Amino acid sequence: GIQLGKLLAQTGYITYDPGFVNTGAASSAITYIDGDAGILRYRGYPIEQLAERSTFVEVSYLLIHGELPNKQQLEDFTSKINRHTLLHEDLKRFFDGFPRDAHPMPVLSSAVSALSTFYQDALDPFDKSNVDLSTVRLLAKVPTIAAYAYKKSIGQPFLYPDNSLGLVENFLRMTFGLPAEPYEIDPVMAKALDQLFILHADHEQNCSTSTVRLVGSSEANLFASISAGVMALFGPLHGGANSAVLDMLEGIKADGGNVDRFVERVKNKEPGVRLMGFGHRVYKNYDPRAKIIKKTADEILSKIGGNDELLDIAKRLEERALSDDYFVERKLYPNVDFYTGLIYRAMGFPTQFFTVLFALGRLPGWIAHWREMIEDPETKIGRPRQIYTGAKERDYKPLSER
Ligand code: ACO
Repeated sequence: GIQLGKLLAQTGYITYDPGFVNTGAASSAITYIDGDAGILRYRGYPIEQLAERSTFVEVSYLLIHGELPNKQQLEDFTSKINRHTLLHEDLKRFFDGFPRDAHPMPVLSSAVSALSTFYQDALDPFDKSNVDLSTVRLLAKVPTIAAYAYKKSIGQPFLYPDNSLGLVENFLRMTFGLPAEPYEIDPVMAKALDQLFILHADHEQNCSTSTVRLVGSSEANLFASISAGVMALFGPLHGGANSAVLDMLEGIKADGGNVDRFVERVKNKEPGVRLMGFGHRVYKNYDPRAKIIKKTADEILSKIGGNDELLDIAKRLEERALSDDYFVERKLYPNVDFYTGLIYRAMGFPTQFFTVLFALGRLPGWIAHWREMIEDPETKIGRPRQIYTGAKERDYKPLSER
């Protein structure tokens, strides 16, 4: 396939493939998906095993370095991340400049972009020690940035990280804790969030990861590339879907819980009305991540308390769609985000923040792909071609004649 692609490139023919449905933009050894069979593996390990038995930090190491860490490697990696969780005090002042109701995704992207101004000491994309340092800085600081974006939105003071805590626990404390009060971490909630991050950690050449690779292919530094990835994830057809699902469920609730009426609007293709959290470019079968989440959603919601009415609507909606020819013919199944919003909401996160949680989970995948891209001797600057459909050559007319 790779050789054929290269030969074709020499012929001068252009492949017209909007949305890159058939285009392999890279070879990659990170994540394997079989969309028809509903299989997802990181570095060969089935997602079900990782979700059940691993941790987000361990999975981050696996994605980035290619192998599961041994005890020493995991300790080193964890302690390096812990040492870098603080934000520069000047970077903290950035948050003051945004309006109180700013969406946290552009805030996150701007702060990540700003990291390349604070850490100019290590930006060379071809210096492995620089890249290792930027990797750790990102893994450590992005949760702090995300928590501060939340605190800013509710007008509460920022908490310094507590590095005696694990990554997820630290993030929860910085998000929900208050300076003068001890914050008790709910282990059920921490475990569930850790698992959700694992499930989001990579998904090969999705829109945001492709963005990270494309920006990085110009040899832009890791922070710059990840900041662009965050913005790609912002869109409602990608990471923004998790909050769009909640908005959709709330809309159905306001309509007396009438699932049928909503499904009819979807089938009639009313502009802007899609069954959010359904469908996937690659999965034409049940998304394996959605399967895991659905299994745990009930447990988690019953333990930490959730909105039963919305969960009930979600279940009825899923059942209704899966038995309807419109969805069956188009092979539309729930994706990873159909149930995540309900869990995030039960944890106390506002809807706008759900996509930030997706970004926290996807971060190690973006980093792993950027590193793979930069180390690959086959990498060229990403530069698609086009089919020109504009005007033929014509002569310039002075303003008086137009
Ligand atoms: N609701 C209703 N109809 C849908 C949906 C949906 N969620 N998804 C696809 N379709 C229909 C399309 O209208 C189209 O029908 P047609 O052939 O009659 O025109 C057909 O299914 C194929 O859809 P495409 O848009 O061509 O599929 P594509 O692969 O381009 O899109 C996508 C994939 C963007 C995920 C789409 O399914 C969608 O918009 N889903 C809702 C948003 C969502 O949940 N996104 C999260 C994706 S997963 C992630 O990022 C984590």
